[in-house]
Amino acid sequence: MTYRVLIVDDEERMRRVLTMVFDEMNDVKVVTTNNCVATFDYLDRERFHLLITDLKVPEMERLEFLRAIKSKSQDLPIIVLTAYGSLESAIDVMKEGVFDYLTAPVENDILKLAVKRALKMSSLSLENKYLRQALESQYNFGNIIGNSPQVVEALRLVGEVSKTDSTVLITGESGTGKELIARAIHYNSNRAGGPLIVLNCAAIPENLLESELFGYERGAFTGAEKTKKGRFELAACGTFFLDEISEMSAAIQAKVLRVVEAKELERLGGTETIKVDTRIICATNKNPEDLVKLGKFREDLYYRISVFPITLPPLRERKEDIIPLSKHFLKRFSVKMGKSPIYLSKEVEKLFMMHKWEGNIRELQNVIERAVILCKGNLITPEHISTSIIRTSTLAEKDELQTQDNSVQFDIPPHGLSLDALEKQLVTQALEKSKNNKTKAAKLLGLTRGTFRYRLQKYGLSN
Ligand SMILES: Nc1ncnc2c1ncn2[C@@H]1O[C@H](COP(=O)(O)OP(=O)(O)OP(=O)(O)O)[C@@H](O)[C@H]1O
Ligand SMILES: [Mg+2]
Repeated sequence: MTYRVLIVDDEERMRRVLTMVFDEMNDVKVVTTNNCVATFDYLDRERFHLLITDLKVPEMERLEFLRAIKSKSQDLPIIVLTAYGSLESAIDVMKEGVFDYLTAPVENDILKLAVKRALKMSSLSLENKYLRQALESQYNFGNIIGNSPQVVEALRLVGEVSKTDSTVLITGESGTGKELIARAIHYNSNRAGGPLIVLNCAAIPENLLESELFGYERGAFTGAEKTKKGRFELAACGTFFLDEISEMSAAIQAKVLRVVEAKELERLGGTETIKVDTRIICATNKNPEDLVKLGKFREDLYYRISVFPITLPPLRERKEDIIPLSKHFLKRFSVKMGKSPIYLSKEVEKLFMMHKWEGNIRELQNVIERAVILCKGNLITPEHISTSIIRTSTLAEKDELQTQDNSVQFDIPPHGLSLDALEKQLVTQALEKSKNNKTKAAKLLGLTRGTFRYRLQKYGLSN
């Protein structure tokens, strides 16, 4: 690593001497300047690890100069090297938080030692800063639990898209965390200081949805006593989270398309075109492509909003997240209810792993909340879990065991058998069961279509 040192001195000779000293230090690169404007300019544009100054800049009083540097670059260590040292000035200067105070002339070795110490501190404080930043960003996503590749990928996308103003489409079954992700995008974007406005299209009657979205002018309809801004406008400089977009009528979809495309709208009953500066995030728990095929969702709007799609898989497809999520909720609810730490018994863990979680993470959260309320000790056992979950988990387990059994259970009769004949029988049966659908038949036997076709030919069954 090369350290960059900025030397500020009004005397040309001094700058030359110092440069020569640092030339002997391999890992140090020096930049020199003789006035405060250039110093501030450097600090604005470039990164330095250390600043050395004699504090005699023509334009500014010495302490004022120091404070200005400190306010620009808080973490930058400063060494003051002056020929006009006095105890009082040393005390004044040290009070401003400079790293070291040396009086010229100074021996090269002493200077080098001071510089090394300052650089060490500088890299430590940088390291600390990076660690802190890493922690902060983890904290920002800290409430989103999941180690499954799908969640890790979703979080990576959140990180990417947060830096932009792109429209995002989040899809996933109910309770998979769409709103949580939408919030994470907003709070990690440079719009975080602005509002996050949420509107669930499914929660608002069709006839009110339009005025909620676009607002209205006074007198636009009976009862419109004063002008009201719509949600798009309220989300100015922030983010608008439009949830359950599949519930919008065709007419509203057309108007939304205009906002997404041109970032402008007119309030109901208004003629003035209003510019809206908002990032739009949409979500749906339906498959948007299916809706487009069925003619229930405008294709052009779909293409416009799916610039950046994020898909959240159902919990049953990311089973490795079940236990970490459970622990997260256990901790949250036990703290909330003032209980000491509570754990899941092995039996309950097993039930959770088998359950289908149709309601996804929300369902898991509710199950845990209930269990924590019911639990008197510090271990959640099946008695704290609702019977419906126990039943479905047990059924699922039986299913799984049966499938496993089917694939292995076969006894060769004592007199032996013909493998070819047996194989032919199985292939014929698979065709019958799948009503001649070769893809399905191949799947029934755990074969690829190619291998299955080969066997059909082998037994003269292809036509
Ligand atoms: N990865 C996760 N880590 C922690 N909590 C999560 C996670 N995903 C979802 N949750 C929690 O689960 C609940 C449901 O999530 P959210 O409301 O975001 O789901 P949704 O997809 O918007 O559901 P719906 O379609 O029903 O509106 C919330 O309380 C949320 O905080
Ligand atoms: Mg939601």
